[in-house]
Amino acid sequence: MLVVGGGGREHALTMGLVASPSVGEVHVAPGNAGTSLVATNHPFSADDVDALVGLAQSLECDLVIVGPEGPLVDGLADRLRLAGIPCFGPHEAGAQLEGSKLYAKQTMQDLNIPTAGIHLIKSESQIADALNDFSPPWVVKRDVLAGGKGVVVTSDRNEAETTLLEGVKTDGFVLLEEFLSGEEASMLIMLDESGWVALPASQDHKRVGEGDTGPNTGGMGAYAPAPVVTDVVRQKVYSQIVEPMHKWLSSQEIPYRGCLYVGLMIDESDDPYVVEYNVRFGDPETQVTIPLISSDLYELLFSVATGQVATHTPIFSDASALTVVLAAEGYPNSPRKGLPISIETAMIANEDGGAFIHHAGTRYDVDGELVSSGGRVLASTGIAPSLDEARNLAYSLMDGIILEGSHFRGDIGFRAL
Ligand code: AMP
Ligand code: GLY
Repeated sequence: MLVVGGGGREHALTMGLVASPSVGEVHVAPGNAGTSLVATNHPFSADDVDALVGLAQSLECDLVIVGPEGPLVDGLADRLRLAGIPCFGPHEAGAQLEGSKLYAKQTMQDLNIPTAGIHLIKSESQIADALNDFSPPWVVKRDVLAGGKGVVVTSDRNEAETTLLEGVKTDGFVLLEEFLSGEEASMLIMLDESGWVALPASQDHKRVGEGDTGPNTGGMGAYAPAPVVTDVVRQKVYSQIVEPMHKWLSSQEIPYRGCLYVGLMIDESDDPYVVEYNVRFGDPETQVTIPLISSDLYELLFSVATGQVATHTPIFSDASALTVVLAAEGYPNSPRKGLPISIETAMIANEDGGAFIHHAGTRYDVDGELVSSGGRVLASTGIAPSLDEARNLAYSLMDGIILEGSHFRGDIGFRAL
């Protein structure tokens, strides 16, 4: 197996694959300090499509699992399929659902999938009318890959105007989106042309500060299952969002094979709206959903990569999982890197689950010392029969980590607890 990427998501996927009795060797590019403890890291950037194809060929990989969206948007899956190597992750055209917010929005509108309305703004003269058309708060989105950080939500009209104008100047156009109120949830759908399977619904915490305050981040913590996704909500998501998308994707010349991440807003009437699609596993949602798959992870991923997910029935545990992200000083704006990390306890194992550290922005330096190398550095993940116990386990490991200037949210899971 080759896992592409080097974050907490890829550490969770690697751990799941290593635990599979069907899997011989797991390789990761570039990986992090955590993946190097359980698999073989290769020093290739996740953006270097040529190098990754060459690596997969030289290792004679049976399956490549792509973590981040960048290489998918750049056609890694297409290249691997030409080389005869099954890839979990969609082809370049499928990846446009994340690569272009405008394309995703037009697709949803064509398929009548519930989502927020937009104005496409191409010049300064369109800004005032567009702002008048939607009531505050305003949601301004640049159509660039920004790791969840290219979105500004503000009730300050001046700020909305300035952000829109900047977007027009930098990118030529920008989107003003209708504000959706409610509670967010993430659904990770394992999807190919034969069918689809939903993983347990999870909830991310996008804002940097407790009580959902401060700027958006890649995600500061998550838990699963998320009780906001009741059976009623789930059925609506399946019939109004997943089914039409699956039907449309399956009608394309090249099938979509990978994870379709559906970012949802669920309103007061339990009606779901799509906030965004991603074409990959979520980070940190993966850290709380992969450990809840009790059947073989490799078999699930391989069935998707080869267009046979309809023949595979995964089994899920009824435990709960909660993960807390430890971020570097200055994250999300300008994270400080290269500092030593000390971890008092890396794992608690007990009959009902336990807790462990997922590595993200970490590496071993030349002296073998663990140091920080990214904005999101580590995540502490607890698995237990109840969400409350999972949280206690996760925070108990987190309290033993020392990284100067680092911060984490103390309220992960608050909406459910
Ligand atoms: P995105 O990159 O599109 O997922 O947006 C990042 C975050 O901004 C989302 O997870 C939401 O918290 C928030 N957001 C985006 N679009 C909207 C919207 N239309 N209404 C309310 N909040 C939004
Ligand atoms: N946690 C949000 C994302 O992966 O996009």
